[in-house]
Amino acid sequence: MLASPLVSRVLPDRPPFTLRARAITPLTTGGTRDEADALIGVGADGRIASVTPAASGVGAGRVGAEAATAEVIDLRPLVLLPGLVDLHAHLPQLSNAGLGFGLPLLEWLERYIFPLERSFDAETAERQAPAAFRAFASAGTTTALLYGALWEPSLDAAFRAAEAHGIRAIIGKVMMDRLTYDLDPRSPGEILDLSLRQSADLCARWHGRDGGRLRYAFTPRFAVSCSADMLRESAALAVSTGAYWQTHLSEDAGEIAEVARLFPEAIDYLDVYDRAGALGPRTILAHAVHLSDREVARLAESGARVAHCPESNLFLASGTMPLARYQAAGVSVGLGSDVAAGPDPSIFQAMRVGAYVQNARRVAGFDSGPILGPLDWLRLGTLHGARVLGIEDSVGSIEVGKEADLIAVDPSVTDPVRAGVSGSAVGSAVVSSDAADLSDPADLLSRLIFRSHPAMVRAAWVRGRRLEGPVA
Ligand code: GUN
Ligand code: ZN
Repeated sequence: MLASPLVSRVLPDRPPFTLRARAITPLTTGGTRDEADALIGVGADGRIASVTPAASGVGAGRVGAEAATAEVIDLRPLVLLPGLVDLHAHLPQLSNAGLGFGLPLLEWLERYIFPLERSFDAETAERQAPAAFRAFASAGTTTALLYGALWEPSLDAAFRAAEAHGIRAIIGKVMMDRLTYDLDPRSPGEILDLSLRQSADLCARWHGRDGGRLRYAFTPRFAVSCSADMLRESAALAVSTGAYWQTHLSEDAGEIAEVARLFPEAIDYLDVYDRAGALGPRTILAHAVHLSDREVARLAESGARVAHCPESNLFLASGTMPLARYQAAGVSVGLGSDVAAGPDPSIFQAMRVGAYVQNARRVAGFDSGPILGPLDWLRLGTLHGARVLGIEDSVGSIEVGKEADLIAVDPSVTDPVRAGVSGSAVGSAVVSSDAADLSDPADLLSRLIFRSHPAMVRAAWVRGRRLEGPVA
């Protein structure tokens, strides 16, 4: 047993520190590690120095040689998980989350989104971005790939807010030289030049900041809003800078028809981006709901990746993505909230809706094969998200040597018997005799996914630095 002088209940703000809790994580080599009572040592460099069972003796007051501190912060009965990875969200849209249910994409954009993004100037970004990052962190997201608005100064404000907050963020200025909310009277050619210059300048200022915690993504909105030149030139910039390239793909029937009209020379929607030289391992395509077999094969061959946004796909009139088919083809897929078409920034909610969608597709006979379980969804929302971003060597799981991007969750608030009790102090959750047996990690994750609670995430760290947002 750990004796009290060495045990603290105060959540650590920065490394080094050592946490004691149950830890559940996907492993890079496959499978899941469930350590019922673990000591996680985080070194001064923000990396995970040790993961050991508390009972091994190493943890009886002193943790492993390279670990962090003799003092142990006892988080039990909280559970440690890797920080969640959100591969697709729109920073300026957060305030309209939940509005416009059931609309076709293009109508929803015109009605709820374009006016909102038009007003997302630097001042608005300065006000809203810090709150948005706190909202992502309190949902358990420690890495987010984000779209901004069109306005360069608002992107600087968003990056500054991410820099100060501590979240791991990849952000890009939205690029549009047609179907746009920009009222600038300049010609499309001049808008294109301006957009490329501003994007390149933002990339030069922010890509790689703070040892790679902040990165840039060239962000042409989608083929409906971008000329072939804009797609091609932005893709070339992404290649020459080593930054990411993100856009939307094949989300909605009306959008797909419009792309076919605008790009008659393309074989299909994916081919529009392929012809722009935009498909490669640093390309993240959101949605990809309605792909032909040719597109799936080409996607896998090109190495481009998919942000699966199931909540968004059902909130708007988009469709259901055949996840099993993409995984079988070898396409790298992670999860996105797609706020605000997804009504909630929580990746736990994306897991829940994604699981329902896959189950429904299977029951309806659209898909066959084994159903993904709760631990598979955890993997999709953490390690696979990191893999999509090419950063799985440094984040996405709780493994020695990785950066300490962690969350502490309180399963007790998901207990139906305790429903209505709003949270509990760290380390003091009531143990109900009616509580279900959650010793199987799949059962625990099932609870967290299917009964996720807004107050469930009690702490989040990136590189061992605690993020503002979760209420401890
Ligand atoms: N396609 C182009 N822009 C958007 C957007 O803002 N949200 C979604 N869901 N799809 C898009
Ligand atoms: Zn989107």
